[in-house]
Amino acid sequence: MSRIAYVNGRYLPLGAATVNVEDRGYQFADGVYEVCEVRGGRLVDERRHMMRLAFSLSELRIAMPMSATALSVVLHEVVRRNRVRWGIVYLQIGRGVSRRDHAFPPAGTAPSIVVTARNMNLEAAEKMAEDGVAVISLPENRWARVDIKSVALLPNVLAKQAAREQGAREAWFVDTGGHVTEGASSNAWIVTRDGKVVTRQCDQGILKGITRTVLLDAIAAQGLILEERAFTLDEAHAAREAFITSASQIVLPVVKIDGRPVGNGAPGLVASALRRDFHRYSEIS
Ligand code: PDD
Repeated sequence: MSRIAYVNGRYLPLGAATVNVEDRGYQFADGVYEVCEVRGGRLVDERRHMMRLAFSLSELRIAMPMSATALSVVLHEVVRRNRVRWGIVYLQIGRGVSRRDHAFPPAGTAPSIVVTARNMNLEAAEKMAEDGVAVISLPENRWARVDIKSVALLPNVLAKQAAREQGAREAWFVDTGGHVTEGASSNAWIVTRDGKVVTRQCDQGILKGITRTVLLDAIAAQGLILEERAFTLDEAHAAREAFITSASQIVLPVVKIDGRPVGNGAPGLVASALRRDFHRYSEIS
């Protein structure tokens, strides 16, 4: 079965799904995206992802190409046509097609929209969560508006590749003050020796992860103490636990940072319990 993509109004086999060479998403990374977890063929936290999408679009002054209702139909249809049970749906909206010129194209240029979906391996993901993953740290080198979920991801691509080459799953960006901002494609968390759960406050310096937002409810429900503040790499090395969150990875324990074990070097109890309970607090549609 060929995978199906939605491109500007049409459902097409992936091989035939193409964008114009003068698409501004392609030429300038002038676009935004969202990734939702698909679980049992349904979307996890679609409403929150669509709210963040609206925020990203409005910050970049890109128009929403269709109504929220129509977009929801397309997302579900792409999931259905690709027979996704557990995996992700990817949505990208760009400023459209126009002769190459950095400034905005003429008013009325239609935004571009692409939706794809794919299955992922749930067993492999669960095994990874049982084993925990390694992260490396790298100097923060992204622009100052990473709260916008833009497709301009070159620093993230290079960071992820560096992690891969060092046998790690994720790279954590560290700012000039020695504080961890977030991962190349996830939010970063630690659990201190005295049991406090710490993750960086949301401002323009991190992406306000949907998984992060939902996890705050799980943390409150489990009676854990939360501190939303920046933590240093030194604190992370001394932490009892560490973990990362994202739509595709949910909660993933970190057992090694820059080659040094975190805590006792095994996935922590807090991270594992939060992963287990996460979907009690998410919305499904
Ligand atoms: N990444 N920070 C960054 C830089 C991210 O790219 C992501 C998500 C997150 C977590 O956000 P959320 O919980 O809403 O997925 C944080 C997606 C999954 C990706 O790029 O594939």
